[in-house]
Amino acid sequence: MGDTLTVLGLESSCDDTAAAVVRQRAGCLPEILSSVVRGQTALHAPFGGVVPEIAARAHAEKIDLCVEQALAAAGVGLGDLDAVAVTAGPGLIGGVLAGVMCAKGICAATGLPLVGVNHLAGHALTPRLTDGLGFPYLMLLASGGHCQFLSVAGVEDFTRLGGTIDDAPGEAFDKTAKLLGLPQPGGPEVERAAMAGDPGRFAFPRPLMDRPGCDMSFSGLKTALLRARDAIIAEKGGITVQDRADLCAAFQAAVRDVLAGKAARAVAAAPGATALAVAGGVAANRVIRAALEQVAGDAGLRFVAPPLALCTDNAAMIAWAGLERFRLGARDGMDLVARPRWPLDETQPALIGAGKRGAKA
Ligand code: KG4
Ligand code: ZN
Repeated sequence: MGDTLTVLGLESSCDDTAAAVVRQRAGCLPEILSSVVRGQTALHAPFGGVVPEIAARAHAEKIDLCVEQALAAAGVGLGDLDAVAVTAGPGLIGGVLAGVMCAKGICAATGLPLVGVNHLAGHALTPRLTDGLGFPYLMLLASGGHCQFLSVAGVEDFTRLGGTIDDAPGEAFDKTAKLLGLPQPGGPEVERAAMAGDPGRFAFPRPLMDRPGCDMSFSGLKTALLRARDAIIAEKGGITVQDRADLCAAFQAAVRDVLAGKAARAVAAAPGATALAVAGGVAANRVIRAALEQVAGDAGLRFVAPPLALCTDNAAMIAWAGLERFRLGARDGMDLVARPRWPLDETQPALIGAGKRGAKA
């Protein structure tokens, strides 16, 4: 194995078809030579959520095109690669299969080694790709389908400190937007509306903050919001733009307090960590990001928030996680299986309902 490794990564576990090429010289910061992401938002929009069969078909149709584009944009050919990394789970099984079959095809035709990657490991190792973070560090993954605190001590050494027991925070933002007549995805819309709102007008709960540990719950928040909305409608016959802004601000403040409060506990539970890093679409929220940065600062930890394109689903993180595994000697055979469920920390019991939406992580 050479000192410099170049890896092609494939990602197709939910509704983004992606391919990327990442290169690293041992001991140096890696370089993203290309990163192609083809979203499927328009295909699923009429159905109000990701339709697994439509997603799988679109992945199967587009993945080889993404690979071609990623190689061309990187200026490399298959012969310049050292390995092919692919998301082997968790996710929607049809989509994961499309990526795994494509990667196996490339490896069978070229003789290149195959490396299966856990999608969540891709997110969790991203701060090493973008900022060269050393182990151990703390990670908060907060997206539309996922929410967990991880202590990351090695390329394959993850300890889950806690996670949501029901909805993911992005899912709660999306449902809130729906209840208030705002478009999807709801997170950015709710954040925008909240800017003009008074977070103190409604006393929404801070679920599970009265219990020890880092587990979280977000489904009760949307019920509280629904009740508050209906009370206004019963009283005034409808909600004004200001009512909506206040509801959004109060909701966002509650999510912020839960994430920041639990992050402080995660920090206390992982004394060796040198940084707090975030990933997932919810990490784009400025109010939440600022609160997490404060928690990190108070604990004397570095705060790392990768650029948004690398916080959300992409294949550069898969190429990178594959490259890290490959450097450590990991190789998969043609018997690599696609796994719809694949917890990062297999020693922990499954959280009730976590990732209810199933696949999107
Ligand atoms: O990581 P992501 O792009 O996809 C996955 O779920 O894997 O995250 C999307 C989620 C959506 O639920 C979206 O509403 C939420 O992240 N989101 C936000 C913001 N931007 C995106 N939530 C709160 N504030 C935002 N600014
Ligand atoms: Zn993801």
